[in-house]
Amino acid sequence: MNKNENIIWHNNKVSYEERCHVLGQKGLVVWFTGLSGSGKSTIAVELEKMLNEAGRAVYLLDGDNIRHGINSDLGFSDEDRNENIRRISEIAALFQDAGVITLVSFISPFRKMREFARERAGKNNFIEVYVNTDYETCRKRDPKGLYKKQIPNFTGRDSSYEEPENPELILDTTQKNAEECAKEVLRIICQYLER
Ligand code: ADX
Repeated sequence: MNKNENIIWHNNKVSYEERCHVLGQKGLVVWFTGLSGSGKSTIAVELEKMLNEAGRAVYLLDGDNIRHGINSDLGFSDEDRNENIRRISEIAALFQDAGVITLVSFISPFRKMREFARERAGKNNFIEVYVNTDYETCRKRDPKGLYKKQIPNFTGRDSSYEEPENPELILDTTQKNAEECAKEVLRIICQYLER
């Protein structure tokens, strides 16, 4: 919603297609969702490396990092999480429009906001990846020691997580390691880039 009716869109002289031509690729948003400790960021880091080595323009937006910067004013209430995802959806859509393969790794617990992200990127440019690691496994792994801290509003315990209904890909990190999961995502990305 634009609160200022006096702001008028200014047209560019370089189109999306022209930007993509320079980069030799299309822009994409690859959206990882799942519980804290599910493995989203570990997989996204592997994938970023693979894409970079393959000569692709790629950038990873990670919840824990972004919350140190542009979203450092936000906490973990439902309202703040929605604002967190709203901002990152807009940022990811800009990166996509710049022609970059944009990896987004946020818990993003609410379906409505993930749908918003898809809509902002454009549904043909959006790959939702559900890192489906169950709560007990995440709690046992506890890579950042947050589960044992009993933090209030913790996702999966006293703050809800709405599972994706139709993700483009579901990853099971109890069966495959991060590299194998990243390769699965890479295969789908290649299909999108060839379309
Ligand atoms: S989201 O729900 O708003 O999408 P986001 O992905 O940005 O969350 O941040 C999640 C990260 O913040 C977790 O990986 C974890 O390290 C940390 N964190 C701190 N407090 C919480 C909490 N209450 N619930 C979940 N994660 C938390």
